[in-house]
Amino acid sequence: MSTETAAPVQMINVQIDGVWLQFPKGTRVIEACRQAEKLIPHYCYHPKLTSPGNCRMCLVELGSPKMTPDRKPIIGADGKPEIGWIPRPQISCAQDVSEGMGIRTNSPMVLESRKGVMEFLLINHPLDCPICDQAGECKLQEFSVDHGNASSRFLERKVKKPKSVELGPRVTLDAERCILCTRCIRFMKEVANDDVLGIVDRGTFNSIAAHPDRILDHNYSLNTVDICPVGALTSSDFRFKMRVWFLKDTSTVDVNCGTGSNITISSRENVIYRITPRDNEAVNGCWLPDSHRLNFKFVSSPARLTLPEVRPQLGGEKSSWQQALNLAAEALKRNAGRVAIIASGRATNEELFLVKRLATILGAKVDILPRTGEADGMLIAADRNPNTTGAKLLGVATGQLAQIVAGVKDGSISALIALGEDATKAGLTEEDIAKLDTIIAADILPNKTTAKADVVLPAAAWCEKRGSMINLKSRLQRLNRAVVAPGSARDDWEILRDLILAINGSNGLHNIDDVFKAMAQETPALAGLTLSRIGDLGVDITLP
Ligand code: SF4
Ligand code: SF4
Ligand code: FES
Repeated sequence: MSTETAAPVQMINVQIDGVWLQFPKGTRVIEACRQAEKLIPHYCYHPKLTSPGNCRMCLVELGSPKMTPDRKPIIGADGKPEIGWIPRPQISCAQDVSEGMGIRTNSPMVLESRKGVMEFLLINHPLDCPICDQAGECKLQEFSVDHGNASSRFLERKVKKPKSVELGPRVTLDAERCILCTRCIRFMKEVANDDVLGIVDRGTFNSIAAHPDRILDHNYSLNTVDICPVGALTSSDFRFKMRVWFLKDTSTVDVNCGTGSNITISSRENVIYRITPRDNEAVNGCWLPDSHRLNFKFVSSPARLTLPEVRPQLGGEKSSWQQALNLAAEALKRNAGRVAIIASGRATNEELFLVKRLATILGAKVDILPRTGEADGMLIAADRNPNTTGAKLLGVATGQLAQIVAGVKDGSISALIALGEDATKAGLTEEDIAKLDTIIAADILPNKTTAKADVVLPAAAWCEKRGSMINLKSRLQRLNRAVVAPGSARDDWEILRDLILAINGSNGLHNIDDVFKAMAQETPALAGLTLSRIGDLGVDITLP
């Protein structure tokens, strides 16, 4: 055991708008103001990037303690050091607080300076708000209302710059709207490690461009759109699709890999329009790869499975849920002891908990289908299943997949349940599957297994259901429903609950909170937790 103790944090006394407060040494002036609920307007500053201090929007008045000739602070009538104020505004984004510092965030000098900066920024800015995708979430609009002038004194012609420039396959630039804050340049250089953007031309003709023979095609390029404070960089996929104030935002997690990046799904009338990163310092900071945020179109595919189906030899094609579940239950009971379940590492904990129950009832072998790729050294994990950790914790990732495949091939397994996975991806051929007595498949889209299945059960996609997952760093996180599943497709936990019910009678699980409760009672690592206690940022759990 280490006997080292962390060095105590040195606290610095700072006066903000007349109130003395304490901040840890190393706190930026702008961050100290934010903590004191004094929001300083800013453009170029971003807490994850270096601070060039180029936009001048974050001006404040700064002061330091007045000193006696022998360098002792002069103490005022209130018992606090008296402050001598610097007679010109200072930027707050590029320096840290210091002992006895005074900060004025709303003095006449500060308010007048902000007005001046806004006027400069808007001189050549186009009157694009009615057709600009950033409208509604644009810092230039917002700060113009809060800190700018109501009218312009500019009578000359505005400078014309390139519009609708494809900087890369996913990002479009409108150079006239750019305020040259350089956040995009710094992100590509400092975070993405791909120094592809720069500023070209001089003076008022300055504009952002990719370096010669380069394009902005990095897999994190859309993060430049997130951090661009204005509508200069837009997502080529999202632009002109929907005004942002019509969108409903849902906090949930990404399911493209084991990182479990936190995301916001923006939807309207049951259609997803965009996915953006959601801040979580314990998981993804504020970034998200392009490949993960654009992988949602399959959810609205016209090929989605929307009705339970039963093969003709079992009594019909399109079927009611009850008929499909009863037929599935009968076939599974008939094959009890010779059943296998191929489950998914993309399933929620609640679903996996019920998969384990089903496997126990049927005496079935069970495993998940592994899904691996290359880690990118940033946010994309090699494990492309988002919930391998949950599947291990709940006894579903068992390492039995090879035995299941061998059992199907040699005939010792006669019934297969495929939950959100195509069994042909596990090493089985279509002929192997066709030999089985019974195949039950629950999925969202048709595949080679659903094509051969006796009972097909339409399931919900990750953005259509609630539940929880555990990422590769043992963080338990919550999925939330952004849109409703199409047709009569159902949440997978309901499908499993009802299948168990059809096999086994009552189980007392009425809603997903009941499932979590039952799971937490049987799983020490989840003891004391509920779906609501997980919160939007998740909780670290201790795995056995
Ligand atoms: Fe309006 Fe902002 Fe777009 Fe400029 S960037 S046109 S201020 S919404
Ligand atoms: Fe800043 Fe956006 Fe211009 Fe890049 S494109 S410099 S992020 S305003
Ligand atoms: Fe401080 Fe731009 S935010 S100068």
